Amino acid sequence: MSIKIFKDSDELSQSAAEAFAALAKQSIAERGRFLVSLSGGSTPMKLYARLANEKVDWAHVHFFWGDERCVPVDDPGNTFGVMREIFFDKIGTTNIHRVESELEPASAAQAYAHTLSGLAEAPFDFPRFDLVLLGMGDDGHTASLFPGSQVEIDSATIAVTAHYQDRPANRVSLTPKVFNQAREIWFLVTGAGKAETLRNVIKGERNLELYPAQRIQPVNGNLIWMIDEAAGRLLN
Ligand code: 6PG
Repeated sequence: MSIKIFKDSDELSQSAAEAFAALAKQSIAERGRFLVSLSGGSTPMKLYARLANEKVDWAHVHFFWGDERCVPVDDPGNTFGVMREIFFDKIGTTNIHRVESELEPASAAQAYAHTLSGLAEAPFDFPRFDLVLLGMGDDGHTASLFPGSQVEIDSATIAVTAHYQDRPANRVSLTPKVFNQAREIWFLVTGAGKAETLRNVIKGERNLELYPAQRIQPVNGNLIWMIDEAAGRLLN
């Protein structure tokens, strides 16, 4: 696990966009494809906007989501819908494996698990992601794995109902079973409001129920925390 501290979210987003492009190039050269699981929330939006300007062989990049809110695509709470405008429409990709958020959560979770199985790599029934992007809420959640939720989850996807800020409550999330098989996992965390939780997650005692972000422990991959100075002010 490593921590990269940036002056602010602009510097973090630019660096992450360049690192994304480099990793995609390496993955495509080695395996002919780059499988990425995207995060929702506000933090990564600057990264997504900057990524559209990077030179990447998008035809070999496959996009998934670590979680999605179960609202129609044109709802402002739908991450895919927001990204379509700031990113996908600019790069013209078709390799989009979105959560069918218009379905009931349980059906959407089942359908998403089937989508994952379509690019599965033995011995799993889901792909080994080349990159997973994650955020962290000020309550220590990540994706749609919230405090107090079931820690041991055997399925690849789950339907979740959770209330966080003013965001849609019904969601589908990938589970640590999938996340932790990734080659690279990047947490993007910014803002002073997350500093205490970030210290507890990274430096504090393990408490997987209280701090779901601690459930992210790559089995055979790299975990990088990309944070700004404000979020990291309590770490040293
Ligand atoms: C979502 C995300 C969620 C997000 C955190 C942080 O769909 O909302 O997957 O886990 O990453 O809530 O959100 P911010 O970046 O907006 O602080």
